[in-house]
Amino acid sequence: MSCKNVVIKLGGSLITDKSNPRTIKWDALKNAIDQIANYYSRFGPKIVIVHGGGSFGHYEVERIKKNKSFIDKISVSEIQESMLMLALAVLKLLVDSGIPALLHPAHTICNTNDAKSCNYTPIIRDLDNGFVPVTYGDAVFDSEGKIISGDDLSVEISNVINSDCLFFATDVEGVLDEKGKLIREINKNYKITIINKAEFDVTGGIIGKINKAFNSSSKNIRILSGEKLFNALIGENVGTKIIK
Ligand code: IPE
Repeated sequence: MSCKNVVIKLGGSLITDKSNPRTIKWDALKNAIDQIANYYSRFGPKIVIVHGGGSFGHYEVERIKKNKSFIDKISVSEIQESMLMLALAVLKLLVDSGIPALLHPAHTICNTNDAKSCNYTPIIRDLDNGFVPVTYGDAVFDSEGKIISGDDLSVEISNVINSDCLFFATDVEGVLDEKGKLIREINKNYKITIINKAEFDVTGGIIGKINKAFNSSSKNIRILSGEKLFNALIGENVGTKIIK
């Protein structure tokens, strides 16, 4: 079934080059957005877009943690600044492709790094008004600097808006086994040796993503390649399906 109400997480590994600080993978980002725009213009679904930190946020956090034992106030500013740079690039491409996107930095709607602490009213209001709200993993201040994960935001938003689809777009086909082969379905009993691993990831990596995904009420949950977003949106069986 094609998606009518969907949350799409654009992973940091898909849209940034994790081996180079503050580097966007423009072709991959544009390709993912073109597919979303294509589906959006034809079928007019409700879409919320969440993106990750990659070589912006994660890189900043790693850099800060080398020199400090915790994320202090100036570090919160530095992480927020780097994430906003990336978010503006994502927003610009969305708008240029005809998607009426509006940005809600997580630090403006969330009180702590628990995605349940966020006020999703502005996102729901945008959706009801026919916009495409965008948010992202971010630094928040809760007695010290903390990182709220884009994956957590995606799962929580999928529950709040009751989405039928929740897609985690990455730079690989989906979840891969130890031989590099795509795992088509994962259920709660999965016991697999997973080979995809992020170079630096302060918010949980692929295993964290899978475990978080089980908490979404969406029926169609997938971890997939950013190049297959259109296929997934029209209801094709691509990537790794998360079965609850
Ligand atoms: C992390 O967001 C944001 C920061 C580090 C500030 P995510 O955890 O969602 O990022 P990716 O997708 O793993 O890069």
